[in-house]
Order: sequence, then structure tokens, then C-alpha cells
Amino acid sequence: MKITMIHGQNHKGSTYHIGRLLADKLASEDEITEFFLPRDLNHFCMGCYQCIEDGTKCPYYTEKQIITDAMEKADMLIFTTPNYCMGPSASMKAFLDLMFTYWMPHCPREWMFTKKAAVISTAAGAGAKHAIKNVKKSLFYWGVPYIKSYGINVQASNWAGVKEDKKIKIDKDMNKLARRFAHIERPRVCIKTKLVFFIMAKMHKAGGDTSPVERQYWEERGWLNKERPWKKR
Ligand SMILES: Cc1cc2nc3c(=O)[nH]c(=O)nc-3n(C[C@H](O)[C@H](O)[C@H](O)COP(=O)(O)O)c2cc1C
Repeated sequence: MKITMIHGQNHKGSTYHIGRLLADKLASEDEITEFFLPRDLNHFCMGCYQCIEDGTKCPYYTEKQIITDAMEKADMLIFTTPNYCMGPSASMKAFLDLMFTYWMPHCPREWMFTKKAAVISTAAGAGAKHAIKNVKKSLFYWGVPYIKSYGINVQASNWAGVKEDKKIKIDKDMNKLARRFAHIERPRVCIKTKLVFFIMAKMHKAGGDTSPVERQYWEERGWLNKERPWKKR
């Protein structure tokens, strides 16, 4: 299984190690591609809206494309981020912002509707679920049909500080999670995604686009009528 991992941090702490535990149970080393943020995409969205008119006009397109190409080629995506002040890391959030045209209200990519994804977060004491929720929301609106998450309070500021019994529990949890992913070959698009997509099609039909480019994008794909990205597989 090809896996692309997006780490919302440069360092290899608890969150990284848990993400890798999962990946290593599902794929061999040469099937795993990793990106570290901000190392591999050190930018914030400036709100210039150039990407709405033409994705290649994003000032950071070249760097971004290396990551999105790897995401497209992967069967599974793994996002890792520590909980920073009850949300994802700033670099993970910056990455999600730079992907905003991938949202269903704009120009979602067909290939997203084929992916399975895991979102992993850790916190020292509380709040991993807040970081997860934020990342999961983007993934859902990108169209990813199968998303599972794992959050844990590690009572530590790095992996070396995590107690042995907790590491054993984490390993067991990753075995369970890996089994779930291994069983899903072709994730099915759920009713909620279908409904959101339908509403977005209605919105584009009614001219509620951010730019005419969006309507054209939907029209060319037949999405304003009966075509759907998940039927193309
Ligand atoms: C900027 C910053 C903010 C943090 N905010 C929280 C927090 O709100 N709640 C919490 O329990 N831990 C918080 N932590 C602790 C980390 O979430 C926790 O140690 C996590 O396991 C670190 O993951 P890592 O080893 O992958 O870096 C924060 C740490 C940093 C550096």
C-alpha cells in the first residue's frame, strides 16, 4: 500500500512515532513518502486568491505540487500533528489553508474521493481531539471518503518521555487501526459527502461561485448534471 505522510512538525516526537507505527504496519519503507512541515512547505496563504483563477498561479505552487502529487499517487494519507493550544500545529494549519481550493465548494479533485486517511494527534494532558477535528474537517471537504483518527494524551513532551506501558498500549491501538485500513480496499463515499456535493452542485448552478472558473470546472466534469467524481473510478 502506498502511503503519503504529512507531518505538521519537523521533529520526530510522539506524534511522528505513532504515525510511523501505523504506516510501518501497513507498508514497506519504499512505499512510504513523508513530508515535514514547515520544512517542505514553509509558507502561509496570503489570501491573494490567485489559486482560484489558476492553481499554478499560487506563489507556492511548485513546492505544493510536490506534496499534492505524492498525495495523488498514494492509496492512503496519514496526517500527524501535535495538539498546540487546542488545535493543530500552525504549520499543519498553514498547509490546510494552502489547499483551500480543494474543498468541495471550489474545485475538488476526483482522486481525493478514492483515498483513505488517518489523522493522528497527541497532547500532553488534553485536547488531541481538537487538533484532529480541524484536520478531519478539511479532509472531509476535500472529499476523502474514509477517515479514521487517533488521539492520545501522552503526558510527555517527546517520545522518549512516554512511559513504556503507554507505548505498549499505543502499539496495540495501532495494530487495531492498521487492521481496519488493511480491510478497506476501495472506500465508499458516504451519504453525507454525496449530500454536500449535491448542494455544492446546486450552488454552482445558481452562480454562487467564487469565480466563473469554478463553474466551468464543474461543468466540464459534468458535475452540474449527473456525473460524480466517485463514479469515475
Ligand atoms: C506550542 C505548544 C502548545 C501546546 N499546547 C498544548 C495543549 O493545549 N494541551 C496539551 O495537553 N498539550 C499541549 N502541548 C504539548 C504537546 O501537545 C504534547 O507534548 C505532544 O505530545 C507533543 O507531541 P510531539 O512529541 O509530537 O511534539 C503543547 C506544546 C506546544 C509546544
